[in-house]
Amino acid sequence: MNELITAIGQLKKEKNAVILAHYYQTGDIQDIADFVGDSLALAQWAARTEADIIVMCGVHFMGETAKILSPSKKVLVPDLAAGCSLADSCPADRFEQFVNQHPDHTVISYVNTTAAVKALTDVVVTSTNAKQIVESFPKDEKIIFGPDRNLGNYINSVTGRNMLLWDGACHVHEQFSVEKLVNLKKEYPRADVLAHPECKSAVLKLADFIGSTAALLKYAIASDKNEFIVATESGILHEMQKKCPDKRFIPAPPNDSTCACNECSFMRLNTLQKLHDCLLNESPEIEVEPQIADKAVKPIQKMLDISARLGL
Ligand code: 13P
Ligand code: SF4
Repeated sequence: MNELITAIGQLKKEKNAVILAHYYQTGDIQDIADFVGDSLALAQWAARTEADIIVMCGVHFMGETAKILSPSKKVLVPDLAAGCSLADSCPADRFEQFVNQHPDHTVISYVNTTAAVKALTDVVVTSTNAKQIVESFPKDEKIIFGPDRNLGNYINSVTGRNMLLWDGACHVHEQFSVEKLVNLKKEYPRADVLAHPECKSAVLKLADFIGSTAALLKYAIASDKNEFIVATESGILHEMQKKCPDKRFIPAPPNDSTCACNECSFMRLNTLQKLHDCLLNESPEIEVEPQIADKAVKPIQKMLDISARLGL
């Protein structure tokens, strides 16, 4: 393990590479990364890095977003099979038909989409900026929001909008058990429940705070509470525990599993060994068709510009 970490450090230096990791990666990958963040922060980092190689420890759409924002750089991923069930729930050809059926609608897409879906989009959002970006449009703007119906329903409820939603979802966040969460709340009556807006509305109703991974982390750090039940992928607990060593974080359990926490099988495909090998071999590499990238960059850049204006 130590040799692997040393070898990764050497390869990184030799190749002028930067390692970016999402909060859902395993602890060993988060610990070795140059930067750990949520989807928005990873895109912002990828857009401004001066490294020649970006190693994106996350899932495929995160690598694509980095490549679209920094086309001259080599973007590597430890495992090309690390996809996303939410992105998969929105095939570009079907989304295009949906968009064409509503030509008077502005199209807002969650970053958890393929580059081809982003190419059909007016502005991209992440869970950190979705509310503010939706609110940047006039109240009567007709909007299509895809692909996450849970995030879309949540944004509709907090903004009073009536966006037309694509019927997609994330297999991890759909899995949280309301019944088990109610029991956990009884077991830890002083704990705050923190939930990601990709969770079902029945779970969100039980939450004390709803937000992106970065927002949940910030809330836990600032809170004077000492216990938190966390309803999102359990990788975030690593950084929460690191930043708040004296607080207790309890993962919310999924429905039908003997496991006490909920892990994203795609995120977990990445390992330290695969991270080493991809740096060594400079493969697998993310490629995005230039015609798609030319279109997709506009709504992503629009998101970054609005976020910068809003100080996000
Ligand atoms: P954030 O990184 O925006 O919190 O989203 C979580 C997620 O599901 C990433 O795939
Ligand atoms: Fe996609 Fe869900 Fe995994 Fe996030 S947690 S990468 S939305 S499948």
